[in-house]
Amino acid sequence: MTDYRELISPPSLKLSLQLESDAPAIFNLVREERERLGRHLSWPPLINEVGDTLANIRHNRADFAEGRSAVYVVRWDDAIAGILSFNTINDKQAEIGYWLAARFEGRGVMSRAVTALMAWYGDTGKLDQFIIRCGVANRPSNRLAQRLGFVFDYCQVRAEKIGDRYVDHNVYCRQYKKRQA
Ligand SMILES: CC(C)(COP(=O)(O)OP(=O)(O)OC[C@H]1O[C@@H](n2cnc3c(N)ncnc32)[C@H](O)[C@@H]1OP(=O)(O)O)[C@@H](O)C(=O)NCCC(=O)NCCS
Repeated sequence: MTDYRELISPPSLKLSLQLESDAPAIFNLVREERERLGRHLSWPPLINEVGDTLANIRHNRADFAEGRSAVYVVRWDDAIAGILSFNTINDKQAEIGYWLAARFEGRGVMSRAVTALMAWYGDTGKLDQFIIRCGVANRPSNRLAQRLGFVFDYCQVRAEKIGDRYVDHNVYCRQYKKRQA
């Protein structure tokens, strides 16, 4: 029986459900990357102390237990590289979110992580449709969705406020077909 807590994808990738003990390492990464992440994500300015990250982890774990979301720490060669999540899970559909520390970018880490996460939940039949929404000017995120076979669905105008500007979102969708066992 899959408990969806940890996925090891050799040789380098590991996805593990966030633990409270991950809070200091995740907080430090967010603090180091705050300015860069804040260009495309709304929440980094709200994370000011390790207690903020801990509160998020507790909230995320409670949501996971209720089947509402699933937030994973992405490790690459045992170092914490970033976060990959199903921000929402509704019936068999999940909305994907992600971020990586700068030193792990541009090496295909997130493409592999998203592919592994979709296969994990898709091949076991738990989920069958995935959504990615990203700012229209966020090239790496748009490229990632396109490269993984997501189809552009629509553009949501003024979908999110980041700092003092409104950002339009491209919304992509992928219907997952189970691989043969
Ligand atoms: C979006 C984000 C997670 C993408 O992560 P990533 O790991 O760099 O993305 P990918 O796995 O798709 O790889 C990126 C590049 O590496 C290349 N790549 C893929 N596999 C590779 C490999 N094995 N070796 C080297 N490079 C590789 C890809 O071709 C891609 O380049 P391209 O866009 O020119 O085609 C990252 O840029 C990020 O954290 N951005 C800031 C936060 C953010 O914007 N989050 C999303 C909000 S919607």
